[in-house]
Amino acid sequence: STQWIKAIARADVPEDDVIAVQAGDREIALYGVEGEVYATDNLCTHGNARLCDGFLTGHEIECPLHQGRFDVRDGRALCSPLRENVMTYPVRIEDGIVFVAL
Ligand code: FES
Repeated sequence: STQWIKAIARADVPEDDVIAVQAGDREIALYGVEGEVYATDNLCTHGNARLCDGFLTGHEIECPLHQGRFDVRDGRALCSPLRENVMTYPVRIEDGIVFVAL
């Protein structure tokens, strides 16, 4: 069953950037894009790199290790060397707090 986990204050999600948060036993990357918040796993699906150390351009996060890019809205892998999409999570904002559904 879906569990909504309190992640971070909405004000602490940087616009046009990415921040890592611990949600339950998972590390999640949160992205602020055009006033919306998106959530993915923080670990790249290709190797041992954290997406929070990557570069966000629009809706695309670029992995810092081999420059693979994911769309943060649906987790789609956009280019090589990525073969697997990254997991995304539903986000809800309530009373200035970001909740992530795990
Ligand atoms: Fe992310 Fe290789 S570890 S592209």
